[in-house]
Amino acid sequence: PLAATAETTALPRPRVQPSGADDGLLHFPTGFLWGAATAAYQIEGAAAEDGRTPSIWDTYSHTPGRVRNGDTGDIAADHYHRYRDDVALMAELGLKAYRFSVSWPRVQPTGRGPAVERGLDFYRRLTDELLGAGITPVATLYHWDLPQELEDAGGWPARDTAERFGEYAAIMADALGDRVRYWTTLNEPWCSAYLGYGSGVHAPGRTDPAHALQAAHHLNLGHGRAVAALRAALPASADPQLSITLNLHQVRALSDSAADVEAARRIDAIGNRVFLGPILDGEYPADLRQDTAHLVDWDSLVQPGDLAAVSAPIDLLGINYYAPTLVSAGTGTGASAAENARNDAHGISDHSPWPGAEDVLFHQPPGQRTAMNWSIDASGLHDLLARIAAEHPGLPMMITENGAAFDDYVNPEGEVRDPERIGYLHGHLAAVHAAIAGGADVRGYFLWSLMDNFEWAYGYGKRFGAVYVDYPTQRRIPKSSARWYTETIRRNAVSR
Ligand code: NOJ
Repeated sequence: PLAATAETTALPRPRVQPSGADDGLLHFPTGFLWGAATAAYQIEGAAAEDGRTPSIWDTYSHTPGRVRNGDTGDIAADHYHRYRDDVALMAELGLKAYRFSVSWPRVQPTGRGPAVERGLDFYRRLTDELLGAGITPVATLYHWDLPQELEDAGGWPARDTAERFGEYAAIMADALGDRVRYWTTLNEPWCSAYLGYGSGVHAPGRTDPAHALQAAHHLNLGHGRAVAALRAALPASADPQLSITLNLHQVRALSDSAADVEAARRIDAIGNRVFLGPILDGEYPADLRQDTAHLVDWDSLVQPGDLAAVSAPIDLLGINYYAPTLVSAGTGTGASAAENARNDAHGISDHSPWPGAEDVLFHQPPGQRTAMNWSIDASGLHDLLARIAAEHPGLPMMITENGAAFDDYVNPEGEVRDPERIGYLHGHLAAVHAAIAGGADVRGYFLWSLMDNFEWAYGYGKRFGAVYVDYPTQRRIPKSSARWYTETIRRNAVSR
């Protein structure tokens, strides 16, 4: 369900330029929100400053063997100290919007109780700086950095964490509600639940499929609690835009055999509909509950009133897309084969992140890959947007992340040339354009990422930025893709 249409219709509707005006460009709707995204732990650094306490990612990255090269977010891109220059750079690049996340342990160190003003002040200064530069702030409340104390009390598998998240959301609405209109509750709860508690390749590094599913429900519940808190605190007259960001999987079956199609159904259920179902339709899909009944007792996990809370109306659905997901039915040893493909894609582990899908195999489609070994296939983004638009007509969507890692380096002239990234972005933007032309209501696009940063279990070795970060000096060098993106924003269009 969507919020009052009066609110949603106030935003620009897609108006794709008729193809008659053939200037060789694919034009985006007027008012399309062009931005770039980052996340607190990946860029801020200042891990122990101004009252911040460890999050699960501090603990995890400081545990030997968890992150490549022993990298941590202690310093990262030092954005906490350099945010003014970084905002100036965003303005120079012509960004209309900037998606950042708030570090929960910076503003509420134990995950409960009163907020730390010094922590809140950082986000007040950041958003003021953005607004002063004419850049729309888009705030994500949770991009994976759970206060360690809450993990010690049970983490996301514990129901209380959802309640704590609701309180934290109220604190943030109170602190930034006068200057932030766009809010995202959670970033990619799939990763928090399944990589954090299923395969353990993300913090906190637990490996229990039942915990992964409990976490998924409590993340959904936390989202619902946060929406309620934000809705209550933000004046409706400011037309707040509340959303959640999901890394939806464009799941494809390797063949049209019944077994492979069934494998795709299972992955769609556990990967997508476990979130879309309760959030948009107010229920967990029956097939998902059945597939996972041996792992959790859904009837006691989902308590009376939960689904009404989780399905509180949102204004936008945030979608992160990188690559499609290709599956087939496995035989016998499925878990280990699935592990291999997923481990390639997400980190380093011996366990499959997908609870209840032990007999599904994951495949790498042929063709070009990024430095993450993710296949490059923009049709997946188009098909995903078309599917959501068909299933939820009129649902406004935002691409909250899309981008690619490549092995960028500074050449002798001091430049970073990344034609592969330009090709990736161009292809995916053309796919977004085609989806809009087909009726999908896509309001904006955020490139992942503004700048190179801490790529979780991969550390600093994988560079997703449009801006290169020379970590020893913290110098920022816009790559050629950044210049290309500036031109794209200026034209509000990409070439055909
Ligand atoms: C999605 C996550 O939200 C972001 O933190 C991560 O860096 C990118 N994917 C790339 O893996």
